[in-house]
Amino acid sequence: CGIVGYIGHREAYPIIIKGLKRLEYRGYDSAGVVLYDEKDLKLSKTKGKVSDLEERVAKEISTKGTIGIGHTRWATHGVPNDVNSHPHLSNSGNLAIIHNGIIENYEPLKKELIKRGYTFKSDTDTEVLVNLIEEVQKNENIKLGKAVQIALNQVVGAYAICVFDKQKPDEIVVARLGSPLAIGIGENEFFIASDASPFIEYTSNAIYLEDEEMAIVRLNKDLKIRKIKDDSLVDPYIQELQMNLEQIEKGGYDHFMMKEIYEQPNVIKDTYRGRLHANEGLIKMAGIEDNIDKFINAQRILIVACGTSWHAGLVAEYIFEEFARIPVEVEYASEFRYRNPIIGDKDVLIAISQSGETADTLAAIKLAKEKGAFVFGVCNVVGSSISRETHAGAYTHAGPEIGVASTKAFTTQITVLTMIALRLAKAKGTLSISDYHRYLSELETIPEKVSEALHTNDSAKAIATVFKDATNFLYLGRGYNFPVALEGALKLKEISYIHAEGYPAAEMKHGPIALIDEQMPVVVIAPKQGHYDKVVSNIQEIKSRSGKIIAVVTKGDEQVRALADHVIEIPETSDAMSPLLTTIPLQLLSYHIAVMRGCNVDQPRNLAKSVTVE
Ligand code: G6P
Repeated sequence: CGIVGYIGHREAYPIIIKGLKRLEYRGYDSAGVVLYDEKDLKLSKTKGKVSDLEERVAKEISTKGTIGIGHTRWATHGVPNDVNSHPHLSNSGNLAIIHNGIIENYEPLKKELIKRGYTFKSDTDTEVLVNLIEEVQKNENIKLGKAVQIALNQVVGAYAICVFDKQKPDEIVVARLGSPLAIGIGENEFFIASDASPFIEYTSNAIYLEDEEMAIVRLNKDLKIRKIKDDSLVDPYIQELQMNLEQIEKGGYDHFMMKEIYEQPNVIKDTYRGRLHANEGLIKMAGIEDNIDKFINAQRILIVACGTSWHAGLVAEYIFEEFARIPVEVEYASEFRYRNPIIGDKDVLIAISQSGETADTLAAIKLAKEKGAFVFGVCNVVGSSISRETHAGAYTHAGPEIGVASTKAFTTQITVLTMIALRLAKAKGTLSISDYHRYLSELETIPEKVSEALHTNDSAKAIATVFKDATNFLYLGRGYNFPVALEGALKLKEISYIHAEGYPAAEMKHGPIALIDEQMPVVVIAPKQGHYDKVVSNIQEIKSRSGKIIAVVTKGDEQVRALADHVIEIPETSDAMSPLLTTIPLQLLSYHIAVMRGCNVDQPRNLAKSVTVE
């Protein structure tokens, strides 16, 4: 979910709406706003998107006021409807709250509040929290900040919240545990948001609250940050923002996803810039250099992640094992954390996360740390929770990724992981010197080859026209390109809602082959390097069952061209680096199919960009 708040001298409503639109990628099944003007709270909220909220606001409330909070939601408790949308008001109508996250013990708290006469309009845990704050405030006759603090100490769960009390309209109380919250600091004004994008045109100074911290944001006063648990004061650490407005706008593309697909040559370069020195045969990454012994002596590398990042982890498994000869296991963070995993101080855990906020990945990190493992993060969002929670890490420099379906984060994650594997290979002597140098030079050519792979856009679009009405898709690949098959299938289902499955090509005969008939499009990733001949045999098997073959091949391939119904050509590269290229046409194919089906590419239904709940 996304949070935006404003307190200052400007009209709050336009800032909040614009900010919510920028954060809409975080959740978009409902939206709401509360504004304060001349003693009263004006609340408007609705199921649907921020644009639906704008329509509702225009009919319902005046938009005057220099204080307000707004929210865009991804439902955890209660279906997305008007009533369950945020903000929520307390029973007295004095307090308004917006909340990201989940209150796990809301049921006993709710029962207790009902006993004390409280009534609830919604099914949300958030309405319980705001009434709990009200109850504490009433009983103890204390200020809002103190009441919020006492209430939060009774709560189990995760949250980023903004609370406003109309009886004290010069302050907003904010707090975080497990969900990000940034405060932008202007001249006599403050901005509050889940990330800095809503306020970058107003200020480049921001404070990121840490877990278990709260702040009272007060007009014409200095910001006070305290620990929620023990009330101790924390020195505010003001960061200078590096984001710019252009990065978070669509720049001429119809969708963020397309813009981000096309950014890949540049962001891959940004990711290895200053780290990869092919001429000197060096890879320099501070997080690795400082901890090189940990990696070299690791008995095993465990990779944890979710979604697309998990697929990048699978590609890394192949790369690490081949280049650095270290055994690797890749796990869904959500599975790892709930099965008493065997992990200790001889293991290195690599956590991969675009947002750096995914709750399951964060929990897996904490567990691995408790068990003594060295934990390394590969994140995109600078200063994110995972980047702070890990012992060391390396950022991907993909820039803000707004499209919910991840694209450039995936390829930059693979870039970072490839560099790490090469660095370890050098330290361990597990690659021949000539191979090592060859890979370094090759990595440098990847951005150019990705640019070339982007020329497949027209063929991807043409193929999309043929298959846009399919109900199922199969994606097959082997070795390095098996995870790419999984990722290709995930992209398609995420944004076009077509059922798609990725499979190791050889496993097809153990099941999915039963699905193949003339209605079934099968995307086969068959670059020249790797297990080409074997994949060709798999293509034959599909063809003899009349499946429709869409093949991703190396430029100039004739053999597969003769068999396939459609081919997409990508430049030649080594097997290990091929995922960086083969994935490009698959991103484009899913994009065009989704657009042709009239789907909302950037904000597919039910998904969220950053999943801060378990
Ligand atoms: C969500 C997003 C996916 C993403 C996954 C992991 O499900 O919709 O695109 O791959 O979370 O996110 P992370 O930020 O940890 O990479």
